[in-house]
Amino acid sequence: MRAFVINKYKEPLQEADVPEPVVGEHDVLVQVQAAGLNVVDEKIRQGAFKAFLSYELPQVMGSDVAGTVIGVGAKVREFAIGDQVYAQPRTERIGAFAERIAVPEADVALKPATVTLEEAGSLPLVALTAWQALVEKGNVQPGQRVLIQAGAGGVGTIAIQLAKHLGATVATTVSAGNIDFVRELGADSAIDYRNQDFEQLLDGYDLVLDSVGGENLEKSLRVLRPGGKAIGIVGPPDPAFAREAGLNPVLRLAMAALSGRIRRRARKLGVTYEFLFMRASGEQLRQITALVDKGVLRPVVGRVFDFDQTVEAMQSLGKGGIRGKAVITRA
Ligand SMILES: NC(=O)c1ccc[n+]([C@@H]2O[C@H](COP(=O)([O-])OP(=O)(O)OC[C@H]3O[C@@H](n4cnc5c(N)ncnc54)[C@H](OP(=O)(O)O)[C@@H]3O)[C@@H](O)[C@H]2O)c1
Repeated sequence: MRAFVINKYKEPLQEADVPEPVVGEHDVLVQVQAAGLNVVDEKIRQGAFKAFLSYELPQVMGSDVAGTVIGVGAKVREFAIGDQVYAQPRTERIGAFAERIAVPEADVALKPATVTLEEAGSLPLVALTAWQALVEKGNVQPGQRVLIQAGAGGVGTIAIQLAKHLGATVATTVSAGNIDFVRELGADSAIDYRNQDFEQLLDGYDLVLDSVGGENLEKSLRVLRPGGKAIGIVGPPDPAFAREAGLNPVLRLAMAALSGRIRRRARKLGVTYEFLFMRASGEQLRQITALVDKGVLRPVVGRVFDFDQTVEAMQSLGKGGIRGKAVITRA
């Protein structure tokens, strides 16, 4: 079948003829109709996660899929041929930039009925990230104040809507042209990060979701109330992540060292810093499906590429200028 692969880290994505997916007894075989693009695809291509996530190359890329079930493993109970589904296949099972993909049943959910396949394909990775940051780690409560960095991006557009649904007052950072856009998504205040300093404007926040990192993360700590929490999805990784990922002692030490400075800064301010590396979850996706179908979460697809344009689509990642998500579609 046709697919887009990396043959070597750092080399460009390439089209290839690859074997059909092997369908395990707990897997569903999905005819790919849409595949969301994620910055993580580009990071994997660059080899950024090689230390703890190594792929046997060539690797088919693509971390989000929406499509139709065309086969099921012998032990699959929840899905049947013909179901329209979506998924973020767990990291070792990515490969949505292909005609077909086999995904563990536990990572799959029925797609929301009220959105297109393209919109569904834009959602899994960013919606799960927002869920795991705001619901699981953040435990956001009504009345809390939440800052969502980079509100116009893939994660930001969903995180704003989810934080509002949870009852929070939401501030976000965007470039000037996106201020009205994020207000329409529900943000109570929008800060132009190019011309304004969010640290000077915000104070006493309960939670920050940081998807920018570096200096931005350090500043994020300073807008928190004592006891508040910053959740970083760009890094640096922390010891809890290293433990949960089952990394060896050397990598654990390395990750403790990488995040030592920011954790010390947080401690001095009486706040906490936690790193999130999102994970696949069909169960959480089902809850996301329900919120989409209730009209609480609206997918934002800023650009659609044809399957033939997958290499170009990958090159667009990280260049900005796209509101929400870019998605690859297959007729
Ligand atoms: N750890 C995890 O599990 C996890 C999961 C998902 C994503 N991530 C990471 O999180 C990051 C964001 O992902 P994404 O999918 O949301 O990316 P994206 O869709 O490419 O979003 C980029 C957005 O960042 C905004 N931006 C750039 N510089 C900014 C700044 N200094 N302050 C505020 N906003 C800024 C841009 O806003 P304007 O267009 O308004 O200028 C753009 O909308 C990526 O690095 C990704 O790898 C990590």
